[in-house]
Amino acid sequence: MIRKILKWTLIVVLIIIAGVTLTTIFRQHLKYDAPYPNIKASTDTAIIARGKHLVVGPAHCIDCHSPLPNKDSLLNHGQEVLPVGGFAFDLPFGKFYTRNLTPDKETGIGNMTDGEIARVLRYGVKKNGEAVLPFMPFQDLSDEDLTAIISYLRSVKPVKNKVPDHNYNLVGNLIKAFMIKPVGPSTKPPIAVRADTTVAYGKHMVMAVANCNECHTKRDGIGNFVGAPLAGGTVFEEKGHPTLISPNLTPDPTGRITNWSQESFIKRFRLGKLIPYSHMPWEAFGRMTDTELIAIYKYLKTVKPAKTEIPKKDS
Ligand code: HEC
Ligand code: HEC
Repeated sequence: MIRKILKWTLIVVLIIIAGVTLTTIFRQHLKYDAPYPNIKASTDTAIIARGKHLVVGPAHCIDCHSPLPNKDSLLNHGQEVLPVGGFAFDLPFGKFYTRNLTPDKETGIGNMTDGEIARVLRYGVKKNGEAVLPFMPFQDLSDEDLTAIISYLRSVKPVKNKVPDHNYNLVGNLIKAFMIKPVGPSTKPPIAVRADTTVAYGKHMVMAVANCNECHTKRDGIGNFVGAPLAGGTVFEEKGHPTLISPNLTPDPTGRITNWSQESFIKRFRLGKLIPYSHMPWEAFGRMTDTELIAIYKYLKTVKPAKTEIPKKDS
């Protein structure tokens, strides 16, 4: 009797394992549908310059899409650093490589249309229909931002750089099969947001372009926002480095910048990274204009004051 039960339990377990394995394999290349934004690259030099500013500054694409360890010092000395891709993220679920964003036809974005590039950023769906990995929360960029960024990418020298394919481990395969889905804009994306020192532009920078919100608002294990907006508390742990917690940016008495003047806020950004292993792209943000930083400062002053919930340590 016992042997019979054991035998059937084993068979059921094997069937479940086979089922999950097959479903996981089957779901590795799920296809999604999303519209192509009506974005056309321009050759206007002012638009290209704006795009370059976004790519190496507030939108910090270059931070991930260039593998050069000295990219910031090159950029800060007026040298060109191209987004040739190949920067690797070595994560617990696999190794992932950023793509070549120069116009090379074989290895870059030369064989993607403007609409295909815009769709990845706004709707999270790649040219081949698969969901893009959630590294790029740029879904709320305006049409004008997307136009500028794509115009700049089209204008740079094509560089042949074949980036390795991603390497998923078992956990990665499971995550890809069951958790990665395309993410779209939170509201109808704006056509344009005027670049001035207003709270409206500051909000656009914080929530859509520079993504301060992504790190300074607490999220749960699968990425949903759970903390008070911009109240900090996100834990950054990396092997070999002390833990960092993103500070509270709201105007609460316990907020990090509550007593900072606008001048000291701007000065802090011009200083760049002070903690070498900080995840915040300080150098790219240091290339923001005074106008952008003033707008961000003003917007942060309007956010609802909240206390940081410092995560409790287990044990
Ligand atoms: C935090 C790191 C990071 C930042 C910042 C970043 N990217 Fe990416 N990007 C990635 C990774 C990783 C991939 C590979 C994703 C995948 O294959 O699913 C990628 C892929 C892409 C792709 C190719 C998608 C495809 O169809 O295969 C494009 C286009 C792109 N990024 C554009 C941009 C632009 C433009 C910016 C700035 C507005 C940007 N990225 C900022 C990490 C980043
Ligand atoms: C990729 C994650 C990430 C992003 C994006 C990010 N931050 Fe941070 N930020 C951190 C972390 C981690 C720290 C703590 C370590 C440090 O000070 O560098 C921090 C620290 C700060 C500090 C305190 C610095 C000090 O010296 O006391 C300020 C101010 C700040 N961030 C503002 C911003 C603003 C404004 C934005 C958007 C323009 C932003 N952050 C985007 C992760 C991030």
